[in-house]
Amino acid sequence: MAFGTMTSLLGMIPLLAIGMNFYRYQSVDPENKVQEPTVIRRQYDFVVIGGGSAGAVVANRLSEVRNWTVLLLEAGGDETEISDVPALAGYLQLTELDWKYQTTPSSTRQYCQAMKGDRCFWPRGKVLGGSSVLNAMVYVRGSKNDYNHWASLGNPGWDYDSMLKYFLKSEDVRNPYLAKTPYHETGGYLTVQEAPWRTPLSIAFLQAGIEMGYENRDINGAQQTGFMLTQSTIRRGARCSTGKAFIRPVRQRKNFDVLLHAEATRILFDKQKRAIGVEYMRGGRKNVVFVRREVIASAGALNTPKLLMLSGVGPAEHLQEHNIPVISDLPVGNNMQDHVGLGGLTFVVDAPLTVTRNRFQTIPVSMEYILRERGPMTFSGVEGVAFLNTKYQDPSVDWPDVQFHFCPSSINSDGGEQIRKILNLRDGFYNTVYKPLQHSETWSILPLLLRPKSTGWVRLNSRNPQHQPKIIPNYFAHQEDIDVLVEGIKLAINVSNTQAFQRFGSRLHNIPLPGCRHLPFQSNEYWACCIKEFTFTIYHPAGTCRMGPSWDVTAVVDPRLRVYGVSGVRVVDASIMPTIVNGNPNAPVIAIGEKASDLIKEDWGVRRAHTSA
Ligand SMILES: Cc1cc2nc3c(=O)[nH]c(=O)nc-3n(C[C@H](O)[C@H](O)[C@H](O)COP(=O)(O)OP(=O)(O)OC[C@H]3O[C@@H](n4cnc5c(N)ncnc54)[C@H](O)[C@@H]3O)c2cc1C
Ligand SMILES: *[C@@H]1O[C@H](CO)[C@@H](O)[C@H](O)[C@H]1NC(C)=O
Ligand SMILES: *[C@@H]1O[C@H](CO)[C@@H](O)[C@H](O)[C@H]1NC(C)=O
Repeated sequence: MAFGTMTSLLGMIPLLAIGMNFYRYQSVDPENKVQEPTVIRRQYDFVVIGGGSAGAVVANRLSEVRNWTVLLLEAGGDETEISDVPALAGYLQLTELDWKYQTTPSSTRQYCQAMKGDRCFWPRGKVLGGSSVLNAMVYVRGSKNDYNHWASLGNPGWDYDSMLKYFLKSEDVRNPYLAKTPYHETGGYLTVQEAPWRTPLSIAFLQAGIEMGYENRDINGAQQTGFMLTQSTIRRGARCSTGKAFIRPVRQRKNFDVLLHAEATRILFDKQKRAIGVEYMRGGRKNVVFVRREVIASAGALNTPKLLMLSGVGPAEHLQEHNIPVISDLPVGNNMQDHVGLGGLTFVVDAPLTVTRNRFQTIPVSMEYILRERGPMTFSGVEGVAFLNTKYQDPSVDWPDVQFHFCPSSINSDGGEQIRKILNLRDGFYNTVYKPLQHSETWSILPLLLRPKSTGWVRLNSRNPQHQPKIIPNYFAHQEDIDVLVEGIKLAINVSNTQAFQRFGSRLHNIPLPGCRHLPFQSNEYWACCIKEFTFTIYHPAGTCRMGPSWDVTAVVDPRLRVYGVSGVRVVDASIMPTIVNGNPNAPVIAIGEKASDLIKEDWGVRRAHTSA
């Protein structure tokens, strides 16, 4: 990408930091860009569609087999000097690195009411590394119970003990105290570390947890319930996307080609419903590449179902509406689950302890980043995470039902420059509630519902591959989801009431949301109204090609991730989760990629001896 176009997009960001970071990026890793092949083969053993969190892993692991040829088709380009800087994550949204999806408005006004057109933005990475390039880098594995539950639904081999092996296989943890435990590993492709910089409020957050009766612990370890400083996919202060982790180190393999700006539009089947190739668009031209063994769909929880439907794999009635010949009638696109919470729950303190634009975007801050790979630029925004039990959850099973993301900043901290835009907030809403805070020190907690009962769906808007899919999140269709989240909000307010935060004079920002003003402030009804207004997705859609046994009518793929009713196609990405994991899904999706790679190798009879790193 031209450096000039990027800087003009970025407005207020200190140009020096970017310029110098560009320099550092070039000098640290001179061959960082993925080389594209000059000639591509007519046929490959495997074609992987989408180089995101899962696809990058699969492409790496399959191309370990020296006599397999592997092609990775990625719709986006390579990462940029901007995407490397953790603190600039929010500036990637609404650029060409983002698919820029939006939800369909709720006909019953159940969600996204504070957003323009009643639409929440759903960014997705359109870049090598996929959404791991846009994400907040929070490294969480979910609960043991998630995986044991998947196994109990008829998916052998997906239990926690089996999956732990794959979390460890990927990982290179940089904090020695974590590396010593049986739950972490060093030497893998994916770097994990605590952010090298934090505010004093992060310690208050941990202390608040103790005051509330929770332990401070590695929530990726023996138990999930508790509070911790964020573990992140960060390497030497820079983002560690799956493109950087899994593709760059192996891009020289002779049997492995990566084609960027190549968007798959259809999987091609023969009469026996065996996948024989992939049709894709590149540079405005339609191309076909043939496949000898398998097509791996790793386009993510929105684009994988879209691609399957365009290829004739999906709900028959829906496909017929769009004149797409049905190859396999399956509930593709159903069972969509996401993590949603209350946005903008803001607390005010008096001392200059928080991250604000004025203190943040300075030359010394930039220099510290450039020269020492340290300081606030290395900070992704989420200092702490916690997993808690509301009154609806039995604490003895260690399957917490709400999660907090703790941020030493809030919606107003950038002076209204970017955050309000990527959240699509209505101007009146922002100006009424958050603009009065423009000179305040604020922090926030994002309380999230971990295991929603409500499920949404994704469908085609048309048979034209260039059109966005239709996204219906269907949040809060079940009253239980509202009830749990309201309890979660009250727990978050209790964090502010602990001595740890009272020392700083912490108090809840008390301008009521305009659409909920008629309800008593802080009542259950008030909070239930707020989540329908300031609905905050944290961008975790999953489950749209559900894994399940053959007798499960809701399943799209079998426990070896093969699509039912056709042969030669697997889905490997967040789509396959039968139920969404209890936490941020990037690490689980990477583990799914690792597990799937082993399943594929097993099914083709590859023994360890035939692979090389
Ligand atoms: C803003 C944001 C913040 C997030 N924060 C966190 C976080 O802090 N921690 C966390 O754990 N998770 C986070 N997530 C979620 C996490 O990043 C995703 O769940 C995960 O990356 C999904 O992986 P995936 O492989 O399923 O899909 P993706 O990573 O989205 O990969 C799909 C890839 O396929 C490509 N593709 C799509 N369609 C086609 C096509 N037709 N042809 C070719 N290529 C195609 C895409 O360009 C993309 O590269 C966040 C997500 C977002 C968007
Ligand atoms: C790959 O190599 C292994 C071992 O050398 C061999 O057994 C196998 O048949 C080869 N496969 C192909 C497709 O050539
Ligand atoms: C918050 O704290 C108050 C006072 O300690 C307590 O009564 C209340 O139950 C707590 N709220 C939740 C949701 O736990």
